[in-house]
Amino acid sequence: MKKGLFISFEGCEGSGKTTQVEKLFSHLKKHHYDCLLTHEPGGTHISEKIRKILLHKSNSSMSPLTELFLYLASRAQHTRELIQPAIEKGVIVISDRYTDSSLAYQGAARNLSLKLVQGLNEIATGGILPDITFLIDFDPKKGLKRLKGRDRIENEEIIFHREVREAYLTIAKKEKERIKVIDGGRSENDIFKEILKITELHPWFQKKRKHNFQRV
Ligand code: TYD
Repeated sequence: MKKGLFISFEGCEGSGKTTQVEKLFSHLKKHHYDCLLTHEPGGTHISEKIRKILLHKSNSSMSPLTELFLYLASRAQHTRELIQPAIEKGVIVISDRYTDSSLAYQGAARNLSLKLVQGLNEIATGGILPDITFLIDFDPKKGLKRLKGRDRIENEEIIFHREVREAYLTIAKKEKERIKVIDGGRSENDIFKEILKITELHPWFQKKRKHNFQRV
C-alpha cells in the first residue's frame, strides 16, 4: 500500500483550526503513523516567500487578482515539492488550509467567481484534492477577538469574514463526502474527539489496519 492520506483543515480567522491541526498531528505521530504537518500559504521555501508578500500589512493595495495568483503560485509549489511526493510515499499529510481557502476568500469574499477559482485550483494542484477536509465552523466575530495581532487579510471588515464563513458552508454542502463541518463552538477536547473519530473511520485507516494485521 503506497498511497498516503491527505487531510486539510479550513475555517475562518480564530476558529481554533490550528489547535486541532496540531492535536491530530501529535496523536497520529504518537501512534507511529508517518505524518507531515504543513500549512498554506507557505510550506516550502519559495511558498514562504510568497506568504510574506501576501500577509504583509504594507501590501494593502494588492488587487484581488494578484492576491489570487499569489495564493495559487504558493500552492503550485507546495503541492509539487511537498504534498504530492509525501502522498506518493504513503505519508499522512495534514495541511492547515488548502484549495477551499481560495474558493471562500478569493472566489466568494473577493468576488472573483467560484468557477474561476475552482478551475485555477485544479491547474495549481494538478487535481490533488484532500481525502478529508475538516471545516471548523465558528462565528468570525468571536474568532477575530481571539487573535493577538492582525495581518493584511485579518484586517478586513467583519462583513468580509462573514462572507467567507457563508461560502465555506455552501462549498461544504456541495461536497458532503469530503468536507466535514465541525461545530467550533465546543471545548477543544470535544472537537478533537469528533475529528479523530471521522479520521479513523476513513477507509484508508481500515485498509492500513488490515494490511498491518496481515503482516504480523
Ligand atoms: P495564517 O496566518 O496562516 O492564518 P490562519 O490561522 O487564519 O490560517 O493566514 C493565512 C491567511 O490567508 C488567512 O487570512 C486566510 C488567507 N488565505 C486566503 O485568503 N486564500 C488562500 O488560498 C489561503 C491558503 C489563505
